[in-house]
Amino acid sequence: MSSTSFIQGTTGNNAVGRVFNFSAGPAVMPLAVLEQIQQELLNYKGTGMSVLEMSHRSAAFEDIIHQTEANIRKLYNIPANYKVLFLQGGASLQFTMVPVNLLAKDASADYILTGSWSQTAFKEGKKSGQVRVAGTSEASNFDRIPAQAELQLDPNAAYLHFTSNNTIFGTQWAAEPVSLDGVPLVCDTSSDILSRPLDISKYGVLYGGAQKNMGPAGLTIVIIREDLLARTPSNLPAMLDYRLLSEKESLHNTPPTFAIYATGLVTNWLLENGGLAETAKRNSAKAGLLYQAIDNSEGFYKGHAQPASRSNMNVTFRLPTEALEKAFVKEATAQGMDGLKGYRTVGGIRASIYNAFPYEGVEALVQFMQAFQDNNR
Ligand SMILES: Cc1ncc(COP(=O)(O)O)c(C=O)c1O
Repeated sequence: MSSTSFIQGTTGNNAVGRVFNFSAGPAVMPLAVLEQIQQELLNYKGTGMSVLEMSHRSAAFEDIIHQTEANIRKLYNIPANYKVLFLQGGASLQFTMVPVNLLAKDASADYILTGSWSQTAFKEGKKSGQVRVAGTSEASNFDRIPAQAELQLDPNAAYLHFTSNNTIFGTQWAAEPVSLDGVPLVCDTSSDILSRPLDISKYGVLYGGAQKNMGPAGLTIVIIREDLLARTPSNLPAMLDYRLLSEKESLHNTPPTFAIYATGLVTNWLLENGGLAETAKRNSAKAGLLYQAIDNSEGFYKGHAQPASRSNMNVTFRLPTEALEKAFVKEATAQGMDGLKGYRTVGGIRASIYNAFPYEGVEALVQFMQAFQDNNR
Protein backbone atom coordinates (compact mmCIF):
# COMPACT_ATOMS: atom_id res chain seq x y z
CA MET A 1 0.00 0.00 0.00
CA SER A 2 1.33 3.44 -0.81
CA SER A 3 1.93 6.09 1.81
CA THR A 4 -0.78 8.33 0.39
CA SER A 5 -3.46 5.74 0.92
CA PHE A 6 -2.58 5.54 4.63
CA ILE A 7 -2.66 9.28 4.92
CA GLN A 8 -5.96 9.80 3.10
CA GLY A 9 -7.49 6.97 5.08
CA THR A 10 -6.89 8.85 8.31
CA THR A 11 -8.15 12.20 7.47
CA GLY A 12 -11.10 12.53 5.20
CA ASN A 13 -11.06 15.21 2.54
CA ASN A 14 -10.11 18.45 4.11
CA ALA A 15 -7.06 17.68 6.19
CA VAL A 16 -4.72 16.04 3.72
CA GLY A 17 -1.28 15.32 5.08
CA ARG A 18 -2.27 14.06 8.51
CA VAL A 19 -0.63 10.84 9.68
CA PHE A 20 -1.77 7.95 11.85
CA ASN A 21 -0.49 9.32 15.13
CA PHE A 22 0.52 6.57 17.59
CA SER A 23 1.99 9.05 20.09
CA ALA A 24 1.73 8.14 23.79
CA GLY A 25 0.74 11.71 24.63
CA PRO A 26 -0.06 14.39 23.84
CA ALA A 27 -1.93 12.25 21.39
CA VAL A 28 -4.35 12.14 18.51
CA MET A 29 -7.57 14.16 18.88
CA PRO A 30 -10.83 13.42 17.03
CA LEU A 31 -10.68 15.11 13.62
CA ALA A 32 -14.25 16.39 14.06
CA VAL A 33 -13.14 18.18 17.23
CA LEU A 34 -10.13 19.79 15.55
CA GLU A 35 -12.39 20.97 12.75
CA GLN A 36 -14.87 22.46 15.22
CA ILE A 37 -12.05 24.26 17.02
CA GLN A 38 -10.86 25.62 13.68
CA GLN A 39 -14.35 26.78 12.83
CA GLU A 40 -14.94 28.46 16.20
CA LEU A 41 -11.43 29.81 16.65
CA LEU A 42 -11.95 33.44 15.63
CA ASN A 43 -15.46 34.03 16.92
CA TYR A 44 -16.81 31.65 19.52
CA LYS A 45 -20.59 31.40 19.28
CA GLY A 46 -21.09 35.06 18.38
CA THR A 47 -19.05 36.43 21.31
CA GLY A 48 -16.80 38.19 18.81
CA MET A 49 -13.70 36.62 20.31
CA SER A 50 -11.78 33.38 20.50
CA VAL A 51 -11.95 31.15 23.58
CA LEU A 52 -8.20 31.86 23.66
CA GLU A 53 -8.95 35.50 24.39
CA MET A 54 -11.87 35.07 26.75
CA SER A 55 -11.99 35.89 30.49
CA HIS A 56 -12.35 32.86 32.69
CA ARG A 57 -14.99 34.85 34.60
CA SER A 58 -17.12 35.49 31.49
CA ALA A 59 -20.57 33.95 31.08
CA ALA A 60 -19.44 32.18 27.89
CA PHE A 61 -16.53 30.50 29.66
CA GLU A 62 -18.68 29.61 32.67
CA ASP A 63 -20.95 27.77 30.26
CA ILE A 64 -17.95 25.96 28.79
CA ILE A 65 -16.58 24.75 32.14
CA HIS A 66 -20.03 23.76 33.42
CA GLN A 67 -20.81 21.84 30.22
CA THR A 68 -17.43 20.08 30.30
CA GLU A 69 -18.00 19.04 33.89
CA ALA A 70 -21.54 17.89 33.09
CA ASN A 71 -20.20 15.80 30.20
CA ILE A 72 -17.57 14.10 32.38
CA ARG A 73 -20.19 13.45 35.07
CA LYS A 74 -22.54 11.94 32.51
CA LEU A 75 -19.87 9.79 30.85
CA TYR A 76 -18.65 8.31 34.16
CA ASN A 77 -22.04 8.50 35.87
CA ILE A 78 -20.31 10.29 38.76
CA PRO A 79 -22.31 10.21 42.02
CA ALA A 80 -23.38 13.57 43.50
CA ASN A 81 -21.00 13.26 46.47
CA TYR A 82 -17.94 13.63 44.22
CA LYS A 83 -16.28 16.86 43.07
CA VAL A 84 -14.71 17.26 39.63
CA LEU A 85 -11.72 19.62 39.65
CA PHE A 86 -10.00 21.21 36.64
CA LEU A 87 -6.39 21.74 37.63
CA GLN A 88 -2.92 22.21 36.16
CA GLY A 89 0.48 20.70 36.91
CA GLY A 90 -0.24 17.37 35.24
CA ALA A 91 -0.63 14.03 36.93
CA SER A 92 2.90 14.72 38.21
CA LEU A 93 1.59 17.40 40.58
CA GLN A 94 -1.06 14.94 41.81
CA PHE A 95 1.79 12.68 42.96
CA THR A 96 2.32 15.44 45.58
CA MET A 97 -1.21 16.76 46.03
CA VAL A 98 -2.59 13.34 46.95
CA PRO A 99 -0.27 12.78 49.93
CA VAL A 100 -0.19 16.39 51.17
CA ASN A 101 -3.99 16.41 51.31
CA LEU A 102 -4.80 12.85 52.31
CA LEU A 103 -1.85 11.50 54.27
CA ALA A 104 -1.72 12.67 57.88
CA LYS A 105 1.66 12.87 59.63
CA ASP A 106 1.13 9.78 61.79
CA ALA A 107 -0.42 7.68 58.99
CA SER A 108 0.96 5.56 56.14
CA ALA A 109 -0.26 5.07 52.55
CA ASP A 110 -0.09 1.95 50.36
CA TYR A 111 1.17 2.00 46.76
CA ILE A 112 0.99 -0.76 44.16
CA LEU A 113 3.94 -0.52 41.79
CA THR A 114 3.16 -1.57 38.21
CA GLY A 115 5.50 0.64 36.23
CA SER A 116 7.58 3.81 36.03
CA TRP A 117 4.72 6.17 36.76
CA SER A 118 3.59 4.35 39.89
CA GLN A 119 7.24 4.25 41.01
CA THR A 120 7.41 8.01 40.52
CA ALA A 121 4.14 8.48 42.42
CA PHE A 122 5.61 6.40 45.25
CA LYS A 123 8.90 8.34 45.30
CA GLU A 124 7.08 11.67 45.31
CA GLY A 125 4.72 10.40 48.03
CA LYS A 126 7.73 9.52 50.19
CA LYS A 127 8.77 13.17 50.22
CA SER A 128 5.49 14.10 51.91
CA GLY A 129 4.84 11.24 54.31
CA GLN A 130 5.08 7.57 55.14
CA VAL A 131 4.45 5.25 52.21
CA ARG A 132 4.79 1.50 51.74
CA VAL A 133 4.73 -0.92 48.82
CA ALA A 134 1.60 -3.09 48.87
CA GLY A 135 2.48 -5.03 45.72
CA THR A 136 4.84 -4.85 42.76
CA SER A 137 5.61 -6.54 39.45
CA GLU A 138 9.08 -5.04 39.16
CA ALA A 139 10.79 -8.47 39.28
CA SER A 140 9.57 -9.22 35.74
CA ASN A 141 10.12 -5.69 34.40
CA PHE A 142 6.48 -4.76 35.00
CA ASP A 143 5.09 -7.16 32.41
CA ARG A 144 1.97 -7.90 34.47
CA ILE A 145 -0.60 -6.62 36.94
CA PRO A 146 -0.32 -8.29 40.37
CA ALA A 147 -3.19 -10.56 41.42
CA GLN A 148 -5.38 -9.38 44.29
CA ALA A 149 -4.11 -12.29 46.43
CA GLU A 150 -0.53 -11.03 46.07
CA LEU A 151 -1.29 -7.65 47.58
CA GLN A 152 -0.23 -7.03 51.15
CA LEU A 153 -2.63 -4.39 52.26
CA ASP A 154 -2.37 -2.29 55.40
CA PRO A 155 -5.85 -2.16 57.03
CA ASN A 156 -4.98 1.26 58.48
CA ALA A 157 -3.60 2.79 55.26
CA ALA A 158 -4.59 6.40 54.56
CA TYR A 159 -5.27 5.27 50.98
CA LEU A 160 -4.33 2.63 48.40
CA HIS A 161 -2.74 4.12 45.27
CA PHE A 162 -2.55 2.36 41.90
CA THR A 163 -2.01 3.23 38.23
CA SER A 164 -4.84 1.87 36.11
CA ASN A 165 -2.90 1.80 32.84
CA ASN A 166 0.87 1.63 32.55
CA THR A 167 1.68 3.79 29.55
CA ILE A 168 5.29 2.71 29.21
CA PHE A 169 5.00 -1.03 29.80
CA GLY A 170 1.61 -1.54 28.13
CA THR A 171 -0.26 -3.19 30.98
CA GLN A 172 -3.69 -2.32 32.37
CA TRP A 173 -5.79 -3.39 35.34
CA ALA A 174 -8.77 -5.35 33.95
CA ALA A 175 -10.64 -4.35 37.12
CA GLU A 176 -9.48 -2.11 39.94
CA PRO A 177 -7.80 -3.68 43.01
CA VAL A 178 -10.09 -4.11 45.99
CA SER A 179 -9.04 -1.99 48.94
CA LEU A 180 -9.75 -2.94 52.55
CA ASP A 181 -12.80 -1.49 54.26
CA GLY A 182 -12.46 2.22 54.87
CA VAL A 183 -9.27 2.60 52.80
CA PRO A 184 -9.95 4.95 49.87
CA LEU A 185 -8.74 3.80 46.48
CA VAL A 186 -6.66 6.46 44.68
CA CYS A 187 -6.07 5.98 40.97
CA ASP A 188 -3.73 7.58 38.47
CA THR A 189 -5.84 7.11 35.36
CA SER A 190 -3.77 9.37 33.10
CA SER A 191 -3.51 6.97 30.20
CA ASP A 192 -6.94 5.34 30.24
CA ILE A 193 -9.19 8.11 31.51
CA LEU A 194 -12.65 8.02 29.87
CA SER A 195 -11.69 4.91 27.89
CA ARG A 196 -14.17 2.54 29.59
CA PRO A 197 -17.01 2.67 32.13
CA LEU A 198 -15.99 2.66 35.81
CA ASP A 199 -17.94 2.38 39.03
CA ILE A 200 -16.75 5.67 40.49
CA SER A 201 -18.25 4.84 43.89
CA LYS A 202 -15.39 2.35 44.39
CA TYR A 203 -12.87 5.21 44.31
CA GLY A 204 -11.79 7.93 46.72
CA VAL A 205 -9.82 9.88 44.09
CA LEU A 206 -9.16 9.51 40.36
CA TYR A 207 -6.78 11.82 38.57
CA GLY A 208 -5.30 12.16 35.12
CA GLY A 209 -3.93 14.56 32.55
CA ALA A 210 -6.20 15.30 29.60
CA GLN A 211 -3.52 14.92 26.94
CA LYS A 212 -3.97 11.27 26.00
CA ASN A 213 -7.64 10.30 25.91
CA MET A 214 -9.51 13.48 26.60
CA GLY A 215 -8.00 16.64 25.14
CA PRO A 216 -4.88 18.76 24.93
CA ALA A 217 -2.04 19.13 27.45
CA GLY A 218 -2.35 21.62 30.30
CA LEU A 219 -5.45 20.27 32.03
CA THR A 220 -5.57 17.73 34.86
CA ILE A 221 -8.87 16.28 36.03
CA VAL A 222 -9.32 15.23 39.66
CA ILE A 223 -12.47 13.41 40.75
CA ILE A 224 -12.62 13.30 44.54
CA ARG A 225 -15.16 12.00 47.05
CA GLU A 226 -16.35 14.95 49.10
CA ASP A 227 -15.77 13.50 52.56
CA LEU A 228 -12.03 13.23 51.80
CA LEU A 229 -11.82 17.02 51.52
CA ALA A 230 -12.09 17.12 55.31
CA ARG A 231 -8.59 15.61 55.49
CA THR A 232 -6.90 18.62 53.84
CA PRO A 233 -4.69 20.29 56.46
CA SER A 234 -5.45 23.97 57.07
CA ASN A 235 -2.00 25.36 56.26
CA LEU A 236 -1.49 24.04 52.72
CA PRO A 237 -0.42 26.43 49.95
CA ALA A 238 -3.61 27.41 48.09
CA MET A 239 -2.60 25.81 44.79
CA LEU A 240 -2.14 22.42 46.50
CA ASP A 241 -5.31 22.59 48.57
CA TYR A 242 -8.08 20.27 47.27
CA ARG A 243 -10.62 21.74 49.67
CA LEU A 244 -10.01 25.34 48.62
CA LEU A 245 -9.83 24.53 44.90
CA SER A 246 -13.06 22.64 45.21
CA GLU A 247 -14.81 25.45 47.15
CA LYS A 248 -13.72 27.85 44.40
CA GLU A 249 -15.03 25.44 41.72
CA SER A 250 -11.63 25.32 40.01
CA LEU A 251 -11.66 29.09 39.53
CA HIS A 252 -9.35 30.11 42.39
CA ASN A 253 -6.92 31.30 39.73
CA THR A 254 -6.98 31.28 35.92
CA PRO A 255 -7.67 27.72 34.78
CA PRO A 256 -6.39 26.30 31.46
CA THR A 257 -9.36 27.72 29.59
CA PHE A 258 -8.61 26.51 26.07
CA ALA A 259 -7.77 22.98 27.23
CA ILE A 260 -11.07 22.88 29.15
CA TYR A 261 -12.94 24.04 26.02
CA ALA A 262 -11.25 21.39 23.84
CA THR A 263 -11.92 18.72 26.46
CA GLY A 264 -15.55 19.80 26.43
CA LEU A 265 -15.65 19.14 22.69
CA VAL A 266 -13.95 15.74 23.04
CA THR A 267 -16.40 14.73 25.76
CA ASN A 268 -19.30 15.83 23.50
CA TRP A 269 -17.82 13.61 20.80
CA LEU A 270 -17.61 10.67 23.24
CA LEU A 271 -21.25 11.16 24.24
CA GLU A 272 -22.35 11.41 20.61
CA ASN A 273 -20.50 8.19 19.87
CA GLY A 274 -22.27 6.03 22.41
CA GLY A 275 -20.61 7.04 25.70
CA LEU A 276 -18.03 4.92 27.50
CA ALA A 277 -19.62 1.51 26.88
CA GLU A 278 -19.25 1.98 23.10
CA THR A 279 -15.86 3.64 23.53
CA ALA A 280 -14.62 0.62 25.48
CA LYS A 281 -15.89 -1.72 22.75
CA ARG A 282 -14.08 0.26 20.07
CA ASN A 283 -10.91 0.33 22.16
CA SER A 284 -10.91 -3.44 22.72
CA ALA A 285 -11.62 -4.10 19.04
CA LYS A 286 -8.61 -1.97 18.06
CA ALA A 287 -6.30 -3.52 20.65
CA GLY A 288 -7.61 -7.03 19.85
CA LEU A 289 -6.65 -6.65 16.21
CA LEU A 290 -3.12 -5.64 17.12
CA TYR A 291 -2.60 -8.36 19.75
CA GLN A 292 -3.89 -10.92 17.26
CA ALA A 293 -1.24 -9.78 14.78
CA ILE A 294 1.43 -10.18 17.46
CA ASP A 295 0.17 -13.63 18.50
CA ASN A 296 -0.07 -14.84 14.89
CA SER A 297 3.45 -13.73 13.95
CA GLU A 298 5.14 -17.01 14.95
CA GLY A 299 7.33 -15.21 17.44
CA PHE A 300 8.57 -12.47 15.08
CA TYR A 301 6.72 -9.92 17.22
CA LYS A 302 6.82 -10.52 20.99
CA GLY A 303 4.44 -8.64 23.26
CA HIS A 304 5.94 -7.21 26.47
CA ALA A 305 2.80 -7.59 28.59
CA GLN A 306 1.59 -10.98 29.76
CA PRO A 307 -1.71 -11.67 27.93
CA ALA A 308 -3.97 -11.29 31.00
CA SER A 309 -2.44 -7.87 31.75
CA ARG A 310 -2.50 -6.40 28.25
CA SER A 311 -3.43 -2.76 27.82
CA ASN A 312 -6.07 -1.59 25.37
CA MET A 313 -4.32 1.78 25.22
CA ASN A 314 -0.60 1.13 24.73
CA VAL A 315 0.49 -1.99 22.87
CA THR A 316 4.17 -2.77 23.43
CA PHE A 317 6.19 -5.33 21.50
CA ARG A 318 9.68 -6.28 20.42
CA LEU A 319 11.19 -7.53 17.18
CA PRO A 320 14.00 -10.11 16.88
CA THR A 321 16.76 -7.44 16.87
CA GLU A 322 17.18 -3.77 17.71
CA ALA A 323 18.29 -3.15 14.14
CA LEU A 324 14.96 -4.50 12.90
CA GLU A 325 13.10 -2.35 15.42
CA LYS A 326 14.88 0.73 14.10
CA ALA A 327 14.06 -0.21 10.52
CA PHE A 328 10.43 -0.91 11.50
CA VAL A 329 9.99 2.57 13.00
CA LYS A 330 11.73 4.24 10.06
CA GLU A 331 9.68 2.46 7.41
CA ALA A 332 6.42 2.91 9.31
CA THR A 333 7.11 6.64 9.65
CA ALA A 334 7.75 6.87 5.93
CA GLN A 335 4.34 5.26 5.38
CA GLY A 336 2.50 7.79 7.51
CA MET A 337 2.53 5.97 10.86
CA ASP A 338 4.13 8.20 13.45
CA GLY A 339 5.21 7.81 17.09
CA LEU A 340 5.81 4.05 17.22
CA LYS A 341 9.20 4.01 18.96
CA GLY A 342 8.97 2.37 22.39
CA TYR A 343 10.10 3.99 25.62
CA ARG A 344 13.73 3.24 26.47
CA THR A 345 13.05 1.07 29.57
CA VAL A 346 11.05 -1.41 27.46
CA GLY A 347 12.55 -0.74 24.03
CA GLY A 348 10.96 -1.97 20.84
CA ILE A 349 7.67 -0.62 19.61
CA ARG A 350 4.79 1.07 21.39
CA ALA A 351 1.54 1.72 19.55
CA SER A 352 -0.68 4.07 21.58
CA ILE A 353 -4.25 3.72 20.40
CA TYR A 354 -6.29 5.98 22.65
CA ASN A 355 -10.01 6.85 22.23
CA ALA A 356 -9.56 9.08 19.17
CA PHE A 357 -7.20 6.73 17.33
CA PRO A 358 -9.06 5.39 14.27
CA TYR A 359 -9.65 1.68 13.64
CA GLU A 360 -8.30 2.00 10.11
CA GLY A 361 -4.99 3.18 11.57
CA VAL A 362 -4.69 -0.14 13.42
CA GLU A 363 -5.60 -2.00 10.24
CA ALA A 364 -2.87 -0.10 8.42
CA LEU A 365 -0.33 -0.98 11.11
CA VAL A 366 -1.30 -4.65 11.06
CA GLN A 367 -0.89 -4.77 7.27
CA PHE A 368 2.46 -3.06 7.58
CA MET A 369 3.55 -5.54 10.28
CA GLN A 370 2.73 -8.49 8.02
CA ALA A 371 4.61 -7.00 5.08
CA PHE A 372 7.59 -6.09 7.26
CA GLN A 373 7.74 -9.61 8.66
CA ASP A 374 7.56 -11.15 5.17
CA ASN A 375 10.39 -8.91 3.97
CA ASN A 376 12.64 -9.50 6.98
CA ARG A 377 12.33 -13.15 8.00
C1 LIG B 1 0.26 6.82 33.86
C2 LIG B 1 0.88 8.19 33.85
N1 LIG B 1 0.95 8.88 35.00
C3 LIG B 1 1.50 10.10 35.04
C4 LIG B 1 2.03 10.69 33.92
C5 LIG B 1 2.63 12.06 34.01
O1 LIG B 1 1.68 12.93 33.55
P1 LIG B 1 1.93 14.49 33.35
O2 LIG B 1 2.93 14.63 32.25
O3 LIG B 1 0.56 14.98 33.01
O4 LIG B 1 2.43 15.04 34.63
C6 LIG B 1 1.95 10.02 32.68
C7 LIG B 1 2.48 10.65 31.47
O5 LIG B 1 2.68 10.04 30.45
C8 LIG B 1 1.37 8.73 32.68
O6 LIG B 1 1.29 8.04 31.52
